[in-house]
Amino acid sequence: MCGIIGRIGSGNALDHLLTGLENLEYRGYDSAGVAVQNGAGIEVRKRSGRVSELEETIDAPEGRVGIGHTRWSTHGPPTDENAHPHTDATEDVAVVHNGIVENHADLRNRLADRGHDFTSDTDTEVIPHLVQANLDAGFDNEGAFRRAVEELEGSYAVAVMIAGDHTIYAARSGSPLVVGVDDDAGEYYLASDVPAFLEYTDRVVYLEDGDVAIIGPDGADFTDLAGEPVPRTPETIDWDPEQAGKGEYDHFMLKEIYEQPTSLAQAVEGRIDDGIDLEEFPPGAFEGIDRVQFVACGTSYHAAMYGALSLTQAGVDARALLANEYGASSPPVDDRTLVVAVTQSGETADTLSALRRAVRKGARTVTVTNVVGSTAAREADDSLLIRAGPEIGVAATKTFSSQAVALTLLAGRIVEDALAGDGLSDLDSLLAAADRLPGDIERVLTESDAAEIARRYRDSRSYFFLGRGQGYPVALEGALKFKEITYEHAEGFASGELKHGPLALVTEETPVFTVFTGIEDDRTLANAEEAATRGAPVIAICPADHPAADVADAHLEIPETDPRLAGLLANVQLQLLSYHAAELLDRPIDKPRNLAKSVTVE
Ligand code: F6R
Repeated sequence: MCGIIGRIGSGNALDHLLTGLENLEYRGYDSAGVAVQNGAGIEVRKRSGRVSELEETIDAPEGRVGIGHTRWSTHGPPTDENAHPHTDATEDVAVVHNGIVENHADLRNRLADRGHDFTSDTDTEVIPHLVQANLDAGFDNEGAFRRAVEELEGSYAVAVMIAGDHTIYAARSGSPLVVGVDDDAGEYYLASDVPAFLEYTDRVVYLEDGDVAIIGPDGADFTDLAGEPVPRTPETIDWDPEQAGKGEYDHFMLKEIYEQPTSLAQAVEGRIDDGIDLEEFPPGAFEGIDRVQFVACGTSYHAAMYGALSLTQAGVDARALLANEYGASSPPVDDRTLVVAVTQSGETADTLSALRRAVRKGARTVTVTNVVGSTAAREADDSLLIRAGPEIGVAATKTFSSQAVALTLLAGRIVEDALAGDGLSDLDSLLAAADRLPGDIERVLTESDAAEIARRYRDSRSYFFLGRGQGYPVALEGALKFKEITYEHAEGFASGELKHGPLALVTEETPVFTVFTGIEDDRTLANAEEAATRGAPVIAICPADHPAADVADAHLEIPETDPRLAGLLANVQLQLLSYHAAELLDRPIDKPRNLAKSVTVE
């Protein structure tokens, strides 16, 4: 977890650092801090709380070189002392770090025996002390940094400044790090993610595990830990800075919900024609695969369930598994198993761990992700990009729909190979629906009554969500979104499960949002009626002329479409419902309490 930034260039670094940290707050916002380098040495300003609080309370230290950090706590509570940057006792070395130093206790004991005093509870604090110890032992600055990094076990994206040296020393292993390059302006950046500096440059170099970047006023050098040069050339990112800002919307989440017509058009662009055409996976790419396992967490797990259904409905052996249960459940894996890691960020530790397990067991692996160059993308045999663009709101919205569509297309390709030529049934209907999807979503966004429904049921005790087939993961996702941003109790169920227990909770204070996709809708309607009989208001999410629209207490309309994509239209209604309910409750929608966008700890 955590976001780090570094900047070298002309003028004062502080504004760039603070802007970068604000853009990285989706990675954590427990504390924030900066360190800048000037003639007087290194000046550190840090505190618990958000970047805006840091900004309001600090004086403006000046310097052309600086590093900064926004924290999601792992070791030690979110206090001022535990905020980064951390320094050694002399304050000549400042460090920001994302990841976990697993051997920090051993290193701390060893350093303490040599007289080093520690002032925080963090694992990170050992790093400046290690660098300082190496400087004391006679190493030059670069040597002191490299030797310190060599001693770290665990995961790190780390950036180090040393007093009097206008250089940022950085290294990555297991946590993301990207360098931004603007040779014309003589400005260089370093960050956990591109939005940190996207308004200054779109030329980036993604560091790989084991890379060291030494960034000075004249540019960046890339080597491995031993100092051997590694070839890393900048690539141009095609996200514009506008895209990374909130624009006219009050919240990133709302903006991202409204971006879905575009993000879904991007997800399918060039991938559907007469059939499914995935450049990454030509016909035959999945020959020999007879079992598919999807591994993912949270919203991505719901998208994985969605993808798995397309396969099982076509007769292919497929399952979606929670990545954090993958080791414990130990499902059979061999070289005829395809394991698909579904992860928006490509950095979720649980998902990476499941992916690595699959690799060890000899599975063929694919990552479905939004982030080019992410760890999961690099570690899998192949990857499929969902092309949703940056998602800043902690609650995933547009990436869910893009994942579900990309997985549906991927499933179509797998089916063709696994069933030796036979593709998905009614492929033409699916492809036509995929083509119409952006327009259908536009209609939902324009005509939605979700704000009014959120108001009508705002005083309820619990919120239930039902669905069947592809509607089931959508119901789970609807409930997850609702609880995540409103802090109200919400549960998703397979429609038929309600009567096997949860019905005991149903009262007139528990609205039941029911998703109709066209798959066994009569049964789903019967389940909704079981709740209505116990007094629960039923809100049907279905097309206008659907029988459920007449019998339900309220109706959220979706256009008629192929059952395999109808759930995504219903999902947009549920996203809007959660958003408006959270707004009525005045919740911090983009940054719900206790959560972070990218969960890089297991
Ligand atoms: C919920 C949410 C999380 C993520 C989960 C996996 O809105 O965003 O449940 O889906 O933490 O994240 P990724 O997709 O980055 O692996």
